[in-house]
Amino acid sequence: MIVDKDFILAEVDPRIYGSFIEHLGRAVYGGIYEPSHPTADERGFRQDALEAIRRLQVPIIRYPGGNFVSGYNWEDGVGPQEERKRKLELAWWTTETNQVGTNEFADWAKLAGSEVMMAVNLGTRGVDAARNLVEYCNHPSGTYWSDLRISHGYKEPHKFKTWCLGNEMDGPWQIGAKTAVEYGRLANETAKVMKWVDPSLELVACGSSSRGMPTFADWEATVLDLTYDQVDYLSLHTYYNNNENNSENFLARSMDMDQFIGTVASICDYVQAKKRSKKKLYLSLDEWNVWNSIGTSRASERWQVAPAEFEDTYTLEDALVVGCCLITMLKHADRVKMACLAQLINVIAPIMTENGGPLWLQTTYYPYLHASLYGRGKVLQPVIRSPKYDSKDYTDIPYLEAISVYNEEQGHITVFAVNRHLEDILDLDINLRSFGRVKLIEHVVLEHDNIKATNTKLHPEQVIPHNRGTARIEDGHIHARLSKSSWNVIRLE
Ligand code: AHR
Repeated sequence: MIVDKDFILAEVDPRIYGSFIEHLGRAVYGGIYEPSHPTADERGFRQDALEAIRRLQVPIIRYPGGNFVSGYNWEDGVGPQEERKRKLELAWWTTETNQVGTNEFADWAKLAGSEVMMAVNLGTRGVDAARNLVEYCNHPSGTYWSDLRISHGYKEPHKFKTWCLGNEMDGPWQIGAKTAVEYGRLANETAKVMKWVDPSLELVACGSSSRGMPTFADWEATVLDLTYDQVDYLSLHTYYNNNENNSENFLARSMDMDQFIGTVASICDYVQAKKRSKKKLYLSLDEWNVWNSIGTSRASERWQVAPAEFEDTYTLEDALVVGCCLITMLKHADRVKMACLAQLINVIAPIMTENGGPLWLQTTYYPYLHASLYGRGKVLQPVIRSPKYDSKDYTDIPYLEAISVYNEEQGHITVFAVNRHLEDILDLDINLRSFGRVKLIEHVVLEHDNIKATNTKLHPEQVIPHNRGTARIEDGHIHARLSKSSWNVIRLE
């Protein structure tokens, strides 16, 4: 691998380390909010969860959905908690108590040190509810909605800047799903009016809910054709699983993400060219993760309050795929400006809690933590030569997946590297030619003899990182032996 400080690909937008909390399963109730929990503060926020989230330095968190938002009346979630209505929640067939809504989430996000990426309902609602919500959240005072917010105890506007125009509107499972033309027209009008209320907003239009959708690519082109001037980002959603139990193939799934990003960027550029526009559209990968329980149906018994849903237990190999995806996003840092690991707590999440009980960190917590802490600065264009392999769906998969980020301010260089080999060590040689003398800070490794090893409530520390990696410096080169199936963070100054 050659790492050169002049080969700058792009400045990392820290928002690529965003995440997502939806009113789904125990993400909100039992995750971030559980008034009866021993660690809860006077607002009902679990402090153990807050602490684990703060450690991740999550810059932005998407809320309140997801599929949930497409049936959500935001007015149900504001005002005195004891007066809030319980309602049937039709995205996940549960009962929504509305004890947490926009203001509670804004308070919580502040405590977590995160911005909020809000979403408006374009399933059952449209322009009117969206513009009222922007007025409620962001207008200072002197109007019905802004004064209502003040009467709810929030004198200062929330100033939410980033907003999603609906969620996965192409999916037949979505409440109020639409064709590309129906959605494109509605999104354009909604965006226009939201920006009239607050011109500082940045808006995300829905791309396809996955690359596998039959309307993929046409959907993007049509939606952008209808919204191009009003929106700033196009969303991408992608989840991977190893339900076929083929680890070689699974570890290559980030190549799918790579192609997905490349294709959507090309569609954006096509529409830009067609419109002779000077504006470049950026990408928001606002749902991505490993999701092994994907496709399992909603809660077996209908209308429960916050039932456990999609509580996947992650293995080391899942963490390696998360690591490869983070590296892939960094490789596209010139185009991907926001991304949300979906989701943050209890629902396909790096953090797990038990109601009334402890919290533990999944394997996937660690690559996400490392990337968020050390992956800020300039991405350096990697020049990599690696042995390769073929799998069921991919050819020429490099055993080494790697990228480096240079933080000029701190004078730190970080190399993130995954060894995809299931049995062998990979000898890594990094030529740091333009950096001159450097010092090794540490070589952190996430590894385990068993690629299926997990962290659970009873055994929460089976897969945790150590900093006894083998990296050493010699003649301006880093030499490291990367263990089989490992995630590595080599930090230099
Ligand atoms: O993240 C879980 C769900 O996955 C979201 O609600 C939806 O947008 C996607 O299908």
